[in-house]
Amino acid sequence: MAETIYLDGKFIPKNKALISPEDRGFNFADGVYEVVKYYRGKPFRFEDHLDRLKRSLLEARIDFDELDQLEAVFQTLLEQNKLTDHEAGIYLQITRGSNTRIHSFPEKISPTIYATGFPFPSNWDQLGNGVKVITAEDIRWLRCDIKSISLLPNVLAAEKAREQDAVEAIFIRNGIVTEGSHSSFLAVRNGVIYTHPISNLILPGITRKVVLEICKEGNIPIVEEGIPALELQNMDEMLIVGTGSEVTPVVKIDDKLVGNGKPGPITLFIQEKFFESTLL
Ligand SMILES: Cc1ncc(COP(=O)(O)O)c(C=O)c1O
Repeated sequence: MAETIYLDGKFIPKNKALISPEDRGFNFADGVYEVVKYYRGKPFRFEDHLDRLKRSLLEARIDFDELDQLEAVFQTLLEQNKLTDHEAGIYLQITRGSNTRIHSFPEKISPTIYATGFPFPSNWDQLGNGVKVITAEDIRWLRCDIKSISLLPNVLAAEKAREQDAVEAIFIRNGIVTEGSHSSFLAVRNGVIYTHPISNLILPGITRKVVLEICKEGNIPIVEEGIPALELQNMDEMLIVGTGSEVTPVVKIDDKLVGNGKPGPITLFIQEKFFESTLL
């Protein structure tokens, strides 16, 4: 049976979906998105995702006022695709809509809403053994706080990582570590956790927020300051976190081992607490 997707108010088979070639998502990457993970049939931190989506829409000046219907839409998608018993993900994309291609907003326009469900299992190999990452210059724009579908710099960096047998590229802007191409980045030194502060230079990651809550409860001191790239060599532990990455230990960065090359104790503590919180 063909996969069912949601497009502009209808649940339809994916192979019947029609989107205009003049959709501004296609022409200008003029849109925003969210990815939500479902654990045992329940969405993880749904309100946080909804709040971030609202903010992305506001900042992008896209009018969409049916946010309160999304949870039911996602639920139907999971049911129709028999994903309720699995770890599943929902991808939601809202573009400004389609009209004649002009850069400024066309007068008549209504957003294109697309959502799809997919199996989203945790990667226990990476979670258990840790991963390699590379560093890459952060060539993105100055509104990385908007979850925009305009992801070419992220795509290029992620591919560069893959070519070097790494799973993520960690961006460096003006000598300061910002975040990963599709994850947030944190590091540990002498029992203190460091991560870039919330600003226009990073996405306000929901997993990052959960991790900082765990640190607070576990009395792990937090310093929200950009880490100088030159300081990376002095870090005892590093982790990439995100809806898909969950809490993944970093054991190698470029060609250098992190600590002793094994996931560190603070990372493992956070990872354990993170998975506990997904069961609540
Ligand atoms: C650039 C970037 N930073 C951080 C994250 C992590 O955000 P979240 O924890 O909300 O998934 C993502 C996730 O896709 C991302 O693309």
